[in-house]
Amino acid sequence: MEKITAIKGIKDILPEDAPTWNYIESIARQVFSAFGFREIRVPIMEKTELFKRSIGETTDIVEKEMYTFRDRDEELLTLRPEATASVIRAYIEHNMMSADQITKLFTIGPMFRRERPQKGRFRQFHQIDVELFGDDKPQSDAEVIFMLVHFLQSVAIEELSLEINSLGCKACRPVFSRAIVDYLKGSEKDLCPDCQRRIHTNPLRVFDCKIESCNSIIAGAPKILDYLCTGCSEHFSQVKSFLDDLNVGYLINPKMVRGLDYYTKTAFEIKSGSLGAQNSLAGGGRYDGLVSFLGGPEVPGIGFAVGFERLIACLPQTEINKFKTDIFIAALGSRAQKISFGLTNELRRAGISAAMDYADKSLKSQMKRADKLNSSFTLIFGDKEIDERRVELRDMKAKNQQVLSLDNLPEAIIDIFRKR
Ligand code: HAM
Repeated sequence: MEKITAIKGIKDILPEDAPTWNYIESIARQVFSAFGFREIRVPIMEKTELFKRSIGETTDIVEKEMYTFRDRDEELLTLRPEATASVIRAYIEHNMMSADQITKLFTIGPMFRRERPQKGRFRQFHQIDVELFGDDKPQSDAEVIFMLVHFLQSVAIEELSLEINSLGCKACRPVFSRAIVDYLKGSEKDLCPDCQRRIHTNPLRVFDCKIESCNSIIAGAPKILDYLCTGCSEHFSQVKSFLDDLNVGYLINPKMVRGLDYYTKTAFEIKSGSLGAQNSLAGGGRYDGLVSFLGGPEVPGIGFAVGFERLIACLPQTEINKFKTDIFIAALGSRAQKISFGLTNELRRAGISAAMDYADKSLKSQMKRADKLNSSFTLIFGDKEIDERRVELRDMKAKNQQVLSLDNLPEAIIDIFRKR
């Protein structure tokens, strides 16, 4: 039979990698809760309209990358390409603003984008996503960025570079858009077909173009920071000043527009030199008009998402992945096998990871297995030990052993682990 493989760009998270994922998630939960964020779990599927309206009809995500299908009742549904839209939908639907003026949420899970798979770019990938609603003050921008940097440092990411920009608001951005259109008009024919179209549909998206000839034209384009209104300009200076107060280093990148249309004012990205071409580790920004645009009240918002796979790719090689067993019980002969079976499961019930081999193999091959399972202790016994009612517990690291009585053996072992 021909084997069935996983879908291109969609990967398994293997048992040897799962501890790293769990470790990162536990750090995220710990760090975010210290900043007052609570977890929310939102569905992986939503009505297509939600993403079209929030991310923007003329973004690459909505135009080319969404997994959209018609349900059996003809409704158009989409596998979420990001989490912000779903979190806002839930925030509005459950009227969370009535519980508290400020709502801080985070969510962790898979996202889906039909991009061309390559190193660091997948069709199913995972994000750690954070959203803060109800505060339009620059302190919350700085707080969220500070928390992101602190989180990444807590999982031992070293080479970080934070880039920030301001994308203005609905008053000043259209002025900048017009300036970009005027600037590009002269060289329209030298732009790629996508950018030629973007001039008319969504001029700021030309900044996202990866094509070299477009990049060199865009290099001389007007800069959004020169077009900010007084309110946006003041907000941006204050964000910078609060970041300075928190000792967060940053670079200003006036060309960073982010790939989603909902941003206003502050936008930011974290890049890592160790990632190669797909070097964006995390990205986010403020989205002050989005909650009302999705049918909620006028509530400002700001957030970010970290790419889980890229975060793992940046991690220094650690011991986290190594599977460990607390104790391996090597039983020789049917009497020992019977006792071991009960003992192994008794220890597991007490939270000790215990293993044995049911095949009654030679001592040598059982010890090999103990080694493979990376066991901290081994207990070896056969008929002789049963007759003498005493067994040896070997500490594999310290390379010493102690003799235990076969009577109340589970209790004695549990006691040893408790005291470690
Ligand atoms: P984004 O920049 O589209 O923002 O994605 C955030 C992060 O997700 C990226 O920096 C990257 O690490 C990861 N990522 C994106 N696409 C892929 C892919 N195909 N394969 C692997 N990793 C990927 C957002 O999604 C916004 N919702 C962030 C946000 C939250 N803004 C405000 N709140």
